Amino acid sequence: MKLSVSGRTTAVGAVAALTLLAGGSMADAAPAPESAVAAAPDIPVAAVKAHLTQLQSIATANGGNRAHGRTGYKASLDYVKAKLDAAGFTTTTQQFTSSGRTGYNLIADWPGGDTNQVVMTGSHLDSVTAGPGINDNGSGSAAILETALTVARTAYHPTKHLRFAWWGAEELGMVGSRYYVSNLSTANRAKISGYLNFDMIGSPNPGYFVYDDDPAIEKTFKDYFTGLGIATEPETEGDGRSDHAPFKNAGIPVGGLFSGADYIKTAAQATKWGGTAGQAFDRCYHRSCDTTSNINDTALDRHGDALANAVWQLSS
Ligand code: TRP
Ligand code: CA
Ligand code: ZN
Repeated sequence: MKLSVSGRTTAVGAVAALTLLAGGSMADAAPAPESAVAAAPDIPVAAVKAHLTQLQSIATANGGNRAHGRTGYKASLDYVKAKLDAAGFTTTTQQFTSSGRTGYNLIADWPGGDTNQVVMTGSHLDSVTAGPGINDNGSGSAAILETALTVARTAYHPTKHLRFAWWGAEELGMVGSRYYVSNLSTANRAKISGYLNFDMIGSPNPGYFVYDDDPAIEKTFKDYFTGLGIATEPETEGDGRSDHAPFKNAGIPVGGLFSGADYIKTAAQATKWGGTAGQAFDRCYHRSCDTTSNINDTALDRHGDALANAVWQLSS
């Protein structure tokens, strides 16, 4: 565990850190003041990578991809759903049709919390047909899965209600997420306090981009990375490019993280983030080489921990 003692450490983080430094465990810690925000647990990157290994195997056994309307998509959804069901989530499969093929969204609700204040976290689960899509977007799918499983494992009971989503057919133009939002009643739309999107968070030549959108959500992510000593840049180009777009268009506050796709890393970006200037953040973007080898473990670890932190902070 990393004990952050920077000036940005929250009061609760500091209490937890001091408790641990004193040799105590979290279970031994004195109850936190009621106003305090519960500290998010670490998301084990090994567990996230184990999900990626499964998604890779499923793709390999199904023609090499997890694309909309192909057998690999449904098999992957079944893998995610089984984990969530076993952990105590209430799961719903939402079916739709696009380009003459059946697609599915998977929605998982964590029982409890104020259902008039829903914090929603989503990632697209489909890949392109060219390859297994392990960074795009096995990375987001696996990280939000492990975050959901960590909610269950730690018996987290937030003030707000938690909902997770795995979208189908993003690669055909955000078809699944658009379908979900357009089928929400006006009343249910109004209950979503925020939507957090994770699409590509383990890029092999990574950047640290925070969606430049809802200020409170953006600050939660930025403060977390600042606490790790990592500089971020605003993601402004992606507004129309992933599943947060339908939520934003419906007036729901959105945010998210992105480690880069086909754009080229500049020299300035390589100076602050490491990696290779003059190369794409992900040279295997939408290609057959987007396999389990196409992941930067450190970036995946940090983005997973940052997303869990935001889920905890925004729902407590
Ligand atoms: N959504 C794109 C895809 O799945 C990836 C992408 C490109 C992206 N630019 C983005 C995602 C900016 C979020 C933000 O192919
Ligand atoms: Ca971690
Ligand atoms: Zn993609």
